[in-house]
Formats: sequence, structure tokens, C-alpha cells
Amino acid sequence: MKYRTFGKLGIQGSAFGLGCMRFNGAASGDSIIDEQKAISLIRRAIDGGVTYIDTAYVYLDKTSEIVLGKALLDGYRDKVTIATKMPSEAVHDRASMEELLATELKKLQTDHIDFYLMHGINKEKWEYFKSIGAPQFFDDMKKEGKIRYKCFSFHGPYEEFEYIINDYDWDMVQIQYNFMDVENQAGTKGLELAGKLGIPVVIMEGLLGGRLANAPDNVQALYDAFPVKRSPVEWAFRWLCNHPEIATVLSGCNEAEQIDDNLRIFDTVEAGIMSEEELKLMDDVREAYISRTKIGCTGCRYCMPCPNGVNIPGIFSVWNNLSLYGGDPHQNGQIRRMKENGSGADQCIGCGACEAACPQHLSIIENLQVAWNEFA
Ligand SMILES: NC(=O)c1ccc[n+]([C@@H]2O[C@H](COP(=O)([O-])OP(=O)(O)OC[C@H]3O[C@@H](n4cnc5c(N)ncnc54)[C@H](OP(=O)(O)O)[C@@H]3O)[C@@H](O)[C@H]2O)c1
Repeated sequence: MKYRTFGKLGIQGSAFGLGCMRFNGAASGDSIIDEQKAISLIRRAIDGGVTYIDTAYVYLDKTSEIVLGKALLDGYRDKVTIATKMPSEAVHDRASMEELLATELKKLQTDHIDFYLMHGINKEKWEYFKSIGAPQFFDDMKKEGKIRYKCFSFHGPYEEFEYIINDYDWDMVQIQYNFMDVENQAGTKGLELAGKLGIPVVIMEGLLGGRLANAPDNVQALYDAFPVKRSPVEWAFRWLCNHPEIATVLSGCNEAEQIDDNLRIFDTVEAGIMSEEELKLMDDVREAYISRTKIGCTGCRYCMPCPNGVNIPGIFSVWNNLSLYGGDPHQNGQIRRMKENGSGADQCIGCGACEAACPQHLSIIENLQVAWNEFA
């Protein structure tokens, strides 16, 4: 396992951080996690050198913290740093924040949380957290030793990231980042800004929740043609670790084989390790994915609201995602919800209001039907 420095904090942490959001369900019983399996996976990762573990109050129906707490008994707590999170939906004032933190400490069976994050914030949620006094609460808890570092995880556009990261004395930030998300959410600009500020960056969705683990044919052909053979997972993690701003790359693993594979990969990766040829390969891989795009919808929403309630950008986003990363439309929750709430393309009456408003001049009416037929 390689260990990396956490920016201005100066501490070291494992390059591979274990995410506790994706453990498989139990075959039976009242827990949604197969607890014994999850505990053994967590301990396997720690025994292999992982020192950073990420969970959250809400993960796995609020059971993730409990299972992690049990896994960290028998001396394992002292070997790791724990990151967990405060969701805005669960707090409304100082008393509720105190209660939530006390609950999390109890579930985790510990007297302090190393990295405490405001969970999944954007500008709106940050303003809410400020309005209920969360920044002062985090300051106070740090002084009391109940948390060691004040952090946030982020989902939103770069402009909001820039505002939030400059608006408080943060110790760490967690962002979604991978070779496909260089211009999405905080993106490369956000990563570099955090680096300039000395704020360590923890990565989530490094494999896009697993979608980058199985390359489509045109991408696999590029990997196969490269002189050095590596799996898509190894290329994705190697590309991330090449960035010096990144402290830890989280990955949620469901199987011992995945833990072992990641332990092996993160034993070989370091900042600045990639050659020009390797970086060019990853640029080509990105382009090969992008070439699979079905329609050039940018999600600007100028077409909305549709007079008949069709979720035009939602349908095109799912259509593009399925084409880029694969997946079964029948298992897709977004499509199911659109069918249930009447915002599918079957509601389109072809009035053309959307096409008149679209800055990309897309043939929306025709493409909605093509997409919807493919989903069926
Ligand atoms: N704060 C937030 O808002 C937020 C949001 C998202 C995630 N997170 C945190 O970040 C963590 C990491 O995100 P993530 O779980 O989405 O990470 P990820 O690495 O993008 O995806 C994890 C998935 O990748 C696959 N995988 C991992 N290692 C593999 C390997 N060696 N070979 C093949 N497949 C492999 C598995 O998919 P299969 O199960 O399909 O095999 C696994 O479930 C989460 O667990 C969570 O703790 C936080």
C-alpha cells in the first residue's frame, strides 16, 4: 500500500480508502447488510494496509456506521481514521446537530470522528448549514476533540465549489472525480483549486460507481492495443493517483477479490507516475467513451418545463449513460420513476415547444421516441 500526504494537514493516509456505501444485502434477517461479510471485508482491507474508511449516517439505511463500529472492535479502531457525515436533512439547530453527532459516535463505538463532513453539499445546502450554525458547531466540536477535521463532500457545479471552499476554514474536501468527470461537478478545476489551497482531496466515484470497471468494445480495444496490459479498474485508479492533490481514492468493494485487487493496484501507484503515452491513452479512452454519446444534450434545461410534463433532459441523460457505460434499462430506477410519475416520452404530443427553445437545435421530438423505444 502506498501512503500519501493529506495536504496542509501533514498526516499520511492510505492511497486506497474503503467506502462503506455498497456492501451487499444479507440473504435474510432484518439487517440490509450481510454483517459478517462486511466486517470481514473491512478487516481484510485494514489488514492489507488501508487506514482510511468512509461511511455516512444515511448509508445502507443507517446501518453502515453500526457495522463499521463492530468491524473496528478488537483493536482495529486504532489502525484507521474514520470519515462520516452530517446530512442536512437530519439537522435543524444546534441541539439536533449535537444529538446526531452523539448518535454517530455511539453507532461507531468511538469517542471521536477523524474526518467529519457536511454531506453532499452544494451552495443551497451550504447556506442552510450556515443558517443553522453548523460552521460554529464544527469549530466547537474540533476544540472539544469530538472531531479532528472539518470537511465537506460536494455534488454541484464548479462555481459553487469555488464559493464553498473559500467560505470556511476547511480541513478536507471529498469530490466525485474520475477520468470521465474532468469537466463535471468540481472537476479538474476544483481539484487544482483545492490543491492550491493546501486542502487534501478525497475521491469518491473513482470508478463511477463501478461503471468504469467494464469497458465497452471500442474502449477495451484501446486498452488491448497498449503495450502494457492493465485492467480498466487499474487504469482508472492509476490515472487518479497520478494527481498530486489527491490524498485518498475511495472505493466501495463488495467482494474479497475486489479488495485484494485494489490492494495490489494501490501498491503500485504514485503521483506523477504516468508517462506521456499513458496519459494520451487515457485521453483517447475518454474520447472513445464520448463517441458513444447518443445525443448532444447539455442538460441546460432551456426546453423545460415541457407543457406535457416530459422530462426531456432526464431521458436524454439516461440514454447517453446507458450507451456510454452499459446497463439494463429495465433495471434503471430513473426510467422506472419516469414511467410511474408520467414524465416519460410516451407523454410527448409533438407540440415542438422544446425544439424552438433548444440552443443546440436538437431534433428532440424524434429522439425522444427513439430513446423511449430503446428503453422498452
Ligand atoms: N459523500 C457523498 O456524497 C458520496 C457519494 C458517493 C460515494 N461516496 C463514498 O465514496 C465511496 C466510493 O464511491 P463508490 O463506492 O462509488 O466507488 P467506485 O470505486 O466508483 O465504485 C465502487 C464499485 O466499483 C466496483 N469495483 C471496485 N473495485 C473493483 C475491482 N477491483 N474490480 C472490479 N470492480 C470493482 C464495485 O462494483 P460492483 O459492486 O458492481 O462489482 C464497487 O461496488 C462510497 O463507498 C462512499 O463511501 C460518498
